[in-house]
Amino acid sequence: GLENTRSMFRNAMEGKYAVPAYNFNNLEQLQAIIMGCAQSRSPVILQVSKGARNYANSALLRHMAMGAVEMAHATADIPIALHLDHGDTFELCKDCIDNGFSSVMIDGSHLSFQENKELTKQVVDYAHRYDVTVEGELGVLAGIEDDVSSEVSHYTNPDEVEEFVKYTHVDSLAISIGTSHGAFKFQPGEPVPPLRFDILEEIERRIPGFPIVLHGASSVVPRYIDIINAHGGVIEGAMGVPEEQLRQAAASAVCKINIDSDGRLAFTAGVRQAMAEDPSNFDPRKYLGPARELLQELIIHKNQYVLGSANRV
Ligand code: G3H
Ligand code: 13P
Ligand code: NA
Ligand code: ZN
Repeated sequence: GLENTRSMFRNAMEGKYAVPAYNFNNLEQLQAIIMGCAQSRSPVILQVSKGARNYANSALLRHMAMGAVEMAHATADIPIALHLDHGDTFELCKDCIDNGFSSVMIDGSHLSFQENKELTKQVVDYAHRYDVTVEGELGVLAGIEDDVSSEVSHYTNPDEVEEFVKYTHVDSLAISIGTSHGAFKFQPGEPVPPLRFDILEEIERRIPGFPIVLHGASSVVPRYIDIINAHGGVIEGAMGVPEEQLRQAAASAVCKINIDSDGRLAFTAGVRQAMAEDPSNFDPRKYLGPARELLQELIIHKNQYVLGSANRV
């Protein structure tokens, strides 16, 4: 069945890699993630956002994830977690815990330190009764419209992490070291500001061996942008985190790396290409199938060459 993230992170810490956390909203994304991870023998965290629950129905997503475990295990016995991404209230986290999720994130990063601590502790106290693991967050990731380059105040403050994890008993901690959500992370034409590994190192020094999570970790792979734009799409100025920096992060205490935008781009590339190449087709399998294939390739690439999670099972 579904597992929590505890032993996944222990193994990732020892093996110096990161477990991939891929978002899904539909059947074909889920199939691609599961088949890609089963084929590359990688543990995987399936992520459901609040938006995904609203789009696809929470019960349906949960049963799909449970079906995915059965499907994956026909190929390889990989550990699979079902995780709530960016839970913003105790009630939302509780609903997921009560309904079979094996892990949740409570994102109190927009609150004051004190309020974040209290809310996160409340979720942990409830979650641990059911052996569900909890991810908290300190520091704010820049929004896609914010200027990420030098807003020092948004970065995680290493002075806060020890008290936060001790007080809340959270199982992992998302931090802000220069990544952001979406496909437009940096200014095109300007040098990409490197992630703040100095802050990560200071955090590791304060809470040695504690699992760290990196959000906003898509790279914006040029190949998919090119396919999209060659087949009627218009995506300009998209920029992501260079793979080399993610490799470096994966070798550190970063045990979970969140990827959504890259999957969306690969999937969209597959749909656009298939649509353009056969304008008379109206069988959804003939454009969602190719999209699924491109996403599966991306997943295998990430696991093998970026996160280092392939062949760990
Ligand atoms: O962190 C946000 C994830 O990429 C989920 O995005 O809220 O549009 O589903 P979403
Ligand atoms: P990206 O937008 O960089 O894929 O980040 C996804 C994420 O952090 C989901 O929580
Ligand atoms: Na790691
Ligand atoms: Zn995120």
